[in-house]
Amino acid sequence: MTTFDKAVELLPAKGYLNMEIPKGINLIEEINRMRKEKNAIILAHYYQTGDIQDIADFLGDSLQLARAAEKTDADMIVFCGVHFMAETAKILNPTKKVVLPDLLAGCSLADSCSGEGLRELKKKHPGAIVVSYINCDSGVKAESDIIVTSSNAEHIINSLPEEQKIIFAPDKNLGRYINQVTGRNMILWDGACIVHEAFSLERIAEQMLNHPKAKLIAHPEAQKPVLQVAHYIGSTANLLNYVVNDAAEEFIVATEEGILHEMRKRAPGKKLIPALTIDDKCNCSECHFMKLNTMEKLYLCMKYELPEILMDEEIRIKALRPINKMLELSKAIK
Ligand code: 13P
Ligand code: SF4
Repeated sequence: MTTFDKAVELLPAKGYLNMEIPKGINLIEEINRMRKEKNAIILAHYYQTGDIQDIADFLGDSLQLARAAEKTDADMIVFCGVHFMAETAKILNPTKKVVLPDLLAGCSLADSCSGEGLRELKKKHPGAIVVSYINCDSGVKAESDIIVTSSNAEHIINSLPEEQKIIFAPDKNLGRYINQVTGRNMILWDGACIVHEAFSLERIAEQMLNHPKAKLIAHPEAQKPVLQVAHYIGSTANLLNYVVNDAAEEFIVATEEGILHEMRKRAPGKKLIPALTIDDKCNCSECHFMKLNTMEKLYLCMKYELPEILMDEEIRIKALRPINKMLELSKAIK
């Protein structure tokens, strides 16, 4: 039985699945009360819903959240993000309780790659080191030499010797972009983010024609044709800083639209236009995994301290090494 199965099994055993939210309670007050009583910290990614972002103790992108998880002295980390992020917090904090409002909050990138698959690829490329995007599970991290996020990938790859052979997993779009900006020729795993892959160059071009003063800003998980026409490419936190600091007044934003919440707060008055996707009938620029977390599930998760992230200790120790390497190599990145 995997540790994930064990965590799922704990839910009915502890009565979690039968729990209802008492009628008439104020979720915000209850969450605030439990946060104090339990010495808990709520960490949230920018792709969470606005209400969750607003109640978080700390809001950030993947790198900022990993750093916040490393530093905290709370007894319980309530991770409002997806599974690999909560798992990273647990790898860094084995003695703390780490909970995630919805255990099914996964990630298409993390799902595309397994530790076993990566081991097979390593056999085909002797001498190559493995640099993995943080969007992967603990089994993949355990097989990796260095972890990177979209904020520090370029910096970390540039710090490696030029002749070093590198396997980059699991995001082929980020990998291709990093190859381009660093002049490397990394071997790429064939994974992708379903949200960032859905942006449509044709429809974005139409948006650019309709908003000639707008700058297109894009996350490097997007595909090459979109990145080629972008005025700026950056991680979620860097896109936010760009909107706040750039002189332009209008931006077409090609990343998960949860970030617009913080952009609107930090850059009031600027016009923010979510980039269009290939499907005009769905909210494709919303990550449905991220949006599985809700205020109701956050309340239940804090009350019952479930679902909890559980880890095999041997894997945890192996996965910690490349995460620590990332934290050490990216000290210069704000
Ligand atoms: P960053 O938080 O590094 O921008 O990554 C975006 C993302 O897709 C997280 O799942
Ligand atoms: Fe994964 Fe993409 Fe969702 Fe981020 S936005 S969690 S990379 S599926």
